[in-house]
Parts: sequence; structure tokens; C-alpha cells
Amino acid sequence: GGDAQSDVGGGGDAGSAIRVGYSQLGAESGWRTANTESVKENLTAANGFDLVFVDAQQKQENQIKALRDFIAQDVDVIAFSPVVETGWDDVLQEAKDAGIPVVLVDRTVDTTVSDPYVTHIGSDFAAEGKKAGDWVAENAPDAKIFELQGTLGSGAQVDREEGFDAVVGEQVIGKASGNFTRAEGRTATEAALQAYPDMTMIFTHNDDMGLGAIEAIEAAGKAPGTDIQIVSVDAVRDGLQALVDKKFNYVVECNPAFGDQLAELVKKVANGEDVPKETVVEETTFDQTITQAQVDARPY
Ligand code: AHR
Repeated sequence: GGDAQSDVGGGGDAGSAIRVGYSQLGAESGWRTANTESVKENLTAANGFDLVFVDAQQKQENQIKALRDFIAQDVDVIAFSPVVETGWDDVLQEAKDAGIPVVLVDRTVDTTVSDPYVTHIGSDFAAEGKKAGDWVAENAPDAKIFELQGTLGSGAQVDREEGFDAVVGEQVIGKASGNFTRAEGRTATEAALQAYPDMTMIFTHNDDMGLGAIEAIEAAGKAPGTDIQIVSVDAVRDGLQALVDKKFNYVVECNPAFGDQLAELVKKVANGEDVPKETVVEETTFDQTITQAQVDARPY
């Protein structure tokens, strides 16, 4: 649409910085830290942005408050990574009524508001789950799997689970959430080792929880990677190190480093130019053939 610029008090005019209100959902994982760095490295004053960045500490109420503050400040563009999919109807309607375009970053929303955002950039989480499932189907068709879920109700949890379970759901013997953090991944795994003594594999929705699972497995006197295999998502350096150390068995990449693409999108949105509704970032997979040199070269 071509009406974004005129509604937002001059944002995007030649010579004036684009004011972006950015609500990051938290700092729960290595992935998130890398994502925040990528955003801040690209939405810079030198690149023509005036960035207001707020961390919600994994609390939706904090995100809703930040979004309302951005609306009150009449920023040119709102960008945010929603911690969960639902519960945004009111605030998205308010942004729409104020004529402020919304850019969704990383995770997705489920809302009754029509045309709630201009564009979304992030991963195909269902495809990530399917890649993990395909590896299991081919390499461990008899594994008994405990699924360590991310933040319940988040796009990353819902879609990874759907993609994975569609392939090997019959092998899943139990599930619990570790909220995408290392500490909660450890406690959830400690409980699961008690509840499901016959488990032979963990599918974890991110590396940090998998690293917590390694601690729990080793504390229980078992060997991660052999007694209990671990299939993970993200491919941050610590996760890839676990892969080279043979404690993780397979890692599906989730790419956090798309701040450059985001900056281009936000610029176009502020200028009222057309943008694609969806930008899916490129991602690969890693198995235990990865080398230490590759791990060391990982930028985050
Ligand atoms: O939404 C992306 C997910 O959020 C990452 O996989 C995880 O590490 C982060 O917490």
C-alpha cells in the first residue's frame, strides 16, 4: 500500500531518520542474543534509523505495554517478535487505527484483526520441525522420543512440533516445555528422565534447552549423544560445539542474522513501497561430520 508515509508524521522523508519502535520478546537464548545484535547492527543511525529497542523479558504484558508506548510516540514503524501467537487483537487494532505499519519479526501471530501487519520476516518453523523429523525417520526409526518444547503457544513451538510430529509423532512418548532456556531445559529433562525411563532420544525445540538436557543426562550418569540422542534446532556456536563433541546428533539451523534484510524491509515500509507479505530466511542442517574449524568460525 502507498499510505504508510503520509500517516506517520513525515517518517521516511529524505533526510529524516525512520523512527522504529522495536519490541524484542526477551533474551532467553543464544539465538535471541544473536538476533538482537543483528537487528541493532543494521537499524543504525548511520543507516537512517532512529531505533527504540525494548526487551520484554518473555512477558506478553511487557510487549503490549511497549507497543502502546510506540503508538503513543507515533513512531513511523512498529516491529516486534511476538512471544506467543494469540492475545494481540486489541493492540494490533490500536496500531492499525493509528495508521502505524507493523512489521512482524521472527515469530508469528494468530489474530482476528484483518491485515494486522504489513510484512513478516523469519523462519519456516514447520519446515525446521520436518527436517528434524526426516532425520529421525531415516537414522533412528526405533527411537523413543521425549519432545522438549519451546515457550508454549509460541509460533516456534507450535509449528516445530507440528512439523516434527507429522513425520515421527508416533515415536514421541512424552512432551514438556523448557521455555527455550537452558535452566528450564535442564529441569524439564530431569523430570522426564524419571517419568520416561525408556526414552532414547530428545527432540529439543532449541539448542539452549538441549544444552540444559545434556547437564541433566550427565548428572543421571548417562551419555548424551549415545544413551540418549539429541536432535536440536538453532545451530548457535554452543549447539554446534555439542555436535562436534558428539553430545548432539543433529541440528537444524534457525537463522537469526537477518537484520540486513529487515532494515531494507522497514525502509520500504516507511516509504510506502510495496513489500512481500513473507520473507523466509535461508537455513541449512548440520550432522556430526561438522568440523571444529566450522564451529570456531560460527559468528554467534
Ligand atoms: O523464535 C525463534 C526461537 O526463539 C529460537 O529457536 C529460540 O532459540 C528462541 O528462543
